[in-house]
Amino acid sequence: MKVRLDSRLKTVAEMVRTEGRIADIGTDHALVPCRLFQLGARDIIATDIADGPLERAAQSVKLYGAEECVKLMKCDGLEGVPVRDDVIIAGMGGEMTADIISRCDFLRLGLRFILQPMTRDYILRERLYDMGISIIFEKTAVVSKKIYTVMLCEYTGERRKTDLRFRFLGKNTDIEYRIKQICALKKRGRSSADFARLAKELESELTEEEKLLLTAWEDSI
Ligand SMILES: C[S@@+](CC[C@H](N)C(=O)[O-])C[C@H]1O[C@@H](n2cnc3c(N)ncnc32)[C@H](O)[C@@H]1O
Repeated sequence: MKVRLDSRLKTVAEMVRTEGRIADIGTDHALVPCRLFQLGARDIIATDIADGPLERAAQSVKLYGAEECVKLMKCDGLEGVPVRDDVIIAGMGGEMTADIISRCDFLRLGLRFILQPMTRDYILRERLYDMGISIIFEKTAVVSKKIYTVMLCEYTGERRKTDLRFRFLGKNTDIEYRIKQICALKKRGRSSADFARLAKELESELTEEEKLLLTAWEDSI
């Protein structure tokens, strides 16, 4: 039976190199590790900090017959996780995602992170570049009208400062995501002139058709 993933988790799974050593941090249901197993991955550690999610994870691993290749671990973030090639952190806040990465003790050239922040992606991008991690590309996933960005990142060791525009848009070029970010900036712009200025700049770059999309989006939230 094929593991069924929604567009958010499918986008995450597509960015992982199945031939490598993988970790899924905050796995909960472990559906991504089980799908990666079906796609050929043979060395996956799925972690969670809480018992309930780990019980759900164990059920999935058993259901999909992945016990030999998907090992479950109870830990905080990457604590005690052995060296990996690809680390997935999906479904957590941007700041928590950055905190977990900042405590990684196997940061080395070529290590990849597949990240899907639920909130504060602009803080995550700033902190990634502060830590010497670059975004290779980003892709949008839409589930029940909710818009997510999924980032494929790699440790390069080159620490860089990011500007506000990059922190908000990153390398995501999809119009849905741009519109979501403009709305977020406009909201925050009430208390920050920099945010308001960026919202205006991004809005001025939209085509007439895209402006209609922005209005529709604003009306729907
Ligand atoms: C919203 S769920 C996301 C599950 C899955 N990754 C997804 O994207 O659908 C977040 C999970 O992260 C776990 N979690 C929260 N903080 C954690 C931490 N510091 N280390 C490991 N897991 C954590 C929670 O217990 C929960 O199961």
